[in-house]
Amino acid sequence: MKILALESSCDETAVAILCSERGLLASEIASQIAIHQAYGGVVPEVASRNHLTALRPVIEETVHKAGISLKEVDAVAATAGPGLATSLMIGMSAAKGLALGLGKPFQAVNHIEGHLLSPFFEQRDILPSVGLVVSGGHTMLVEIEGFGNYRLLGKTHDDAAGEAFDKVGKLMGLPYPGGPVIDRLARSGNPKAFDFPRSMLDSGDFHFSFSGLKTSVRYLLDKLPLDNRPIEDLCASFQEAVVEVLVKKTVAAARSVGKRVIAMSGGVSCNRRLREAMEVACRKRGMELLVADPKLCTDNAAMIAFVALFQLKNRIEWPMTADIDPNLRLM
Ligand code: KG4
Ligand code: ZN
Repeated sequence: MKILALESSCDETAVAILCSERGLLASEIASQIAIHQAYGGVVPEVASRNHLTALRPVIEETVHKAGISLKEVDAVAATAGPGLATSLMIGMSAAKGLALGLGKPFQAVNHIEGHLLSPFFEQRDILPSVGLVVSGGHTMLVEIEGFGNYRLLGKTHDDAAGEAFDKVGKLMGLPYPGGPVIDRLARSGNPKAFDFPRSMLDSGDFHFSFSGLKTSVRYLLDKLPLDNRPIEDLCASFQEAVVEVLVKKTVAAARSVGKRVIAMSGGVSCNRRLREAMEVACRKRGMELLVADPKLCTDNAAMIAFVALFQLKNRIEWPMTADIDPNLRLM
């Protein structure tokens, strides 16, 4: 079975073709980062206009790279939410049109579920585990029993982890998105140079808060001379505060629900220090860490196709009247 999936929830126009027998045949992404960089963040109207122009060539390129013809596709999937309304509408309308034209089923996919299950992409089986989704829009801990069987353990009260990286990057005058830049600069910085707060570390639950951390970076920056800020040390110290909270809470959540597998996903799971610290913490407690290949951590359509494949295996059908939902929840 071959699934063609479209992802257009934010600023990446992504298309993938996943085959249930042969695995991922092609996965293409047209990134709009360079376009939005000029504004310091994603501008919804600009994003949707660019999805509109990018989608058709990216679909054609993906089909070409997969070495198949469109007629061989067995189902067409798209992200239904959460995300930017006008961006979601473009991917979803295109997917419905393709499904109708090909006479094949249309599958609507939750973007968060795409991230959540991406660590299982290689082994193709969903293991009982605790999932940590850390992206630009979400930070949540989820108990996973199997496909479609999820329980929310905790989430952020304010900023998502990726949002905190991006906002702190902006405060420091770094280009958008701040996450990957901070990750790179932090490698030559001292993580102990500044003692930033570890918000909610001892709250006794599995919720997060990152806005206080961002504020303390702002206060500190105000006290430092503009032309002589130790940017590398600031990046390393900020990153360490985020990583410590994410790692300790995730491991505690897994222990509390008796799970030995941690599945980490979302754009922030590309972060080198987070991957390293989570790996060390898991090893110490005899737990297994699953993280997707970095290409599958940030927004992509392969993860959308992966969820659609499970939907089809579980006979989950979607009507053509299915609509987008910018605030779609996982549970
Ligand atoms: O999953 P994603 O592509 O989109 C959302 O669904 O939000 O995540 C994007 C987020 C951005 O906030 C970006 O700064 C962050 O992931 N990110 C990183 C790294 N790479 C991407 N944050 C920290 N370190 C990285 N290496
Ligand atoms: Zn995402």
